[in-house]
Amino acid sequence: MTEIDYATLSEGIEGVVLMDEPMSRHTMYKIGGPADLFVVPADRRSLTAILQRCTEGNIPVYIVGGGANLLVHDEGVRGVVVNLGGLKRAEWRDDAGRLSLHVEAGAVLAPLVAEAERRGWSGLESLAGIPGSVGGALVMNAGTKAGSIADVVREIEVMTLDGRETKTISREEAGYGYRRSVLCDVAVIAAVLDMKQGIPEEVKAATNVVRGYRKGQPVGVPCAGSVFKNPPGDFAGRLVEAAGLKGQRLGGAMISEQHGNFIVNTGNATAWDVLGLISRIQQKVLENTGIELELEIKII
Ligand code: EPU
Repeated sequence: MTEIDYATLSEGIEGVVLMDEPMSRHTMYKIGGPADLFVVPADRRSLTAILQRCTEGNIPVYIVGGGANLLVHDEGVRGVVVNLGGLKRAEWRDDAGRLSLHVEAGAVLAPLVAEAERRGWSGLESLAGIPGSVGGALVMNAGTKAGSIADVVREIEVMTLDGRETKTISREEAGYGYRRSVLCDVAVIAAVLDMKQGIPEEVKAATNVVRGYRKGQPVGVPCAGSVFKNPPGDFAGRLVEAAGLKGQRLGGAMISEQHGNFIVNTGNATAWDVLGLISRIQQKVLENTGIELELEIKII
């Protein structure tokens, strides 16, 4: 295979451009080897350019968000990782009483939830406490037991992965279900979320109730939220607990003592440590119950 000339590939791209960049710096797990090229395009023109060049050069490209739900292999990523954190504009609109939030994919969710609370605008309460970016949340339909982002999506702007086309799709076209959408093979670049005028105290109270759901989940340790989706009618965390696996360790990774559906990095975990615990859980739960736990986290 001919060597890829990443310096030429990234010429004229505005934003952050880093070669051999450890992905451990860009995932909440703090795990992951180097990406050959890591790009945070400053604008859509640069995003389009890098996607088109990768397509022309037949170079693999991976779109990532805030890294909140992402496990990257220790060997790193051959190809280009594009982080959409540079596209982060957010506009709160009141069109003759029809309220909406026009937001780009790289915007971080938590400050938006706080701003909605400040304005007394209702719509984002169920997303309180969720780490990561709007784009990641839109792709995986992030949420809590109070609801998920799909509940407020009006439309989504996506770009094809070859960077040649952008289009706007409706919520229906996004194929939303529990932690699921059909947005996996496009770059989600922006969305319009429907908001409602609420009573500020009520919005604040509802947001705080949802924030409280995170009690009982590990905080302050590197992790990627829930590892598995809940299977129909049950909870992954309960199944892991029933299997007696809480607290088990492999290398630097540990199944949280607090919540069975969290695997935490106790300091020096490798991706293989986490993957080992994932398969240990999947095997044991399958043996015990016949349930195949499906991953919620993404692995590259
Ligand atoms: N449970 C156990 N043992 C455990 C953990 C949980 O028995 O070790 C039981 C709890 O007692 C409870 C049930 O399982 O009866 C559900 O647990 P919890 O309320 O903690 O919620 P969850 O279903 O595990 C979901 C989301 C979380 C979200 C919470 C709160 C999924 C996969 N996870 O967790 O989202 O914060 O609800 O609404 O749907 C995420 O997706 O990354 C995430 C953190």
